[in-house]
Amino acid sequence: MEGFAGKVAVVTGAGSGIGQALAIELARSGAKVAISDVDTEGLARTEERLKAIGAEVKADRLDVTEREAFLAYADAVNEHFGKVNQIYNNAGIAFSGDVEVTQFKDIERVMDVDFWGVVHGTKAFLPYLIASGDGHVINISSVFGLFSVPGQAAYNSAKFAVRGFTEALRQEMVLAGHPVKVTTVHPGGIKTAIARNAGAAEGLDREKLAEVFDKQLANTSPQRAARVILDAVRKNKARVLVGPDAKVLDVLVRLTGSGYQRLFTPILSRILPH
Ligand SMILES: NC(=O)c1ccc[n+]([C@@H]2O[C@H](COP(=O)([O-])OP(=O)(O)OC[C@H]3O[C@@H](n4cnc5c(N)ncnc54)[C@H](O)[C@@H]3O)[C@@H](O)[C@H]2O)c1
Repeated sequence: MEGFAGKVAVVTGAGSGIGQALAIELARSGAKVAISDVDTEGLARTEERLKAIGAEVKADRLDVTEREAFLAYADAVNEHFGKVNQIYNNAGIAFSGDVEVTQFKDIERVMDVDFWGVVHGTKAFLPYLIASGDGHVINISSVFGLFSVPGQAAYNSAKFAVRGFTEALRQEMVLAGHPVKVTTVHPGGIKTAIARNAGAAEGLDREKLAEVFDKQLANTSPQRAARVILDAVRKNKARVLVGPDAKVLDVLVRLTGSGYQRLFTPILSRILPH
């Protein structure tokens, strides 16, 4: 894949899944890559893969919920490479649990990582992206940023918020005349560790939930997801749907409006463990 030669790209949550695949594809496309994660072992594995490709790489432990650390990290990446062109705000966590039984702290945690992590990354790097003359913000939402499902209120909230934030930003960059493109990414089920790493409200069977996700819902490989995302970045798409499931669900929600809620509930009650 061509097109990113000489560009400096930042990927959060690069120790696993979509983030790791994005970092590898970017490296193959000739980009210099700044990777980070809280999981330093996963991060080291990604770093090794990038070095084997021959890419210039900077790897750091970064928790995307830590605002001051993120601001300092943006300065350090710019200092290291001399510029920054792209940030992929990818780090994320999942959580299952009905509103009735989910604790405030669990909802806050999902918002901290999945929403505030994206806000931190966007704001910390925006001045550098503008200064580069050729910037791009890529924020990872989800199909759960397009419609809601029972048991995912925390995750739905964060992913809808990422979409709102990112769609506003894209228009702002155009209005301000800044040289920064903005893309919101809505993956469907991607075969990653997300469900195995996910939290769940008390009483829910986490193993079973992860099994349902792995066996029935995750159908697209992270490598394929990364290629679809990078293709959309090249084409400066406002929105990218990743996977056939994402495309079908998007159409269904558009056609039915709020009526999708009546359709989904009986289907999900058959798939999800009780
Ligand atoms: N897998 C899917 O089906 C799917 C679908 C839609 C959206 N997404 C989104 O894609 C993104 C990547 O997820 P994935 O599927 O590759 O999952 P994953 O669990 O394989 O990878 C997520 C990475 O983020 C890291 N991370 C978690 N909390 C962090 C924090 N506070 N700071 C820094 N890093 C942190 C993890 O250590 C992990 O390496 C997430 O935003 C997720 O919500 C995934």
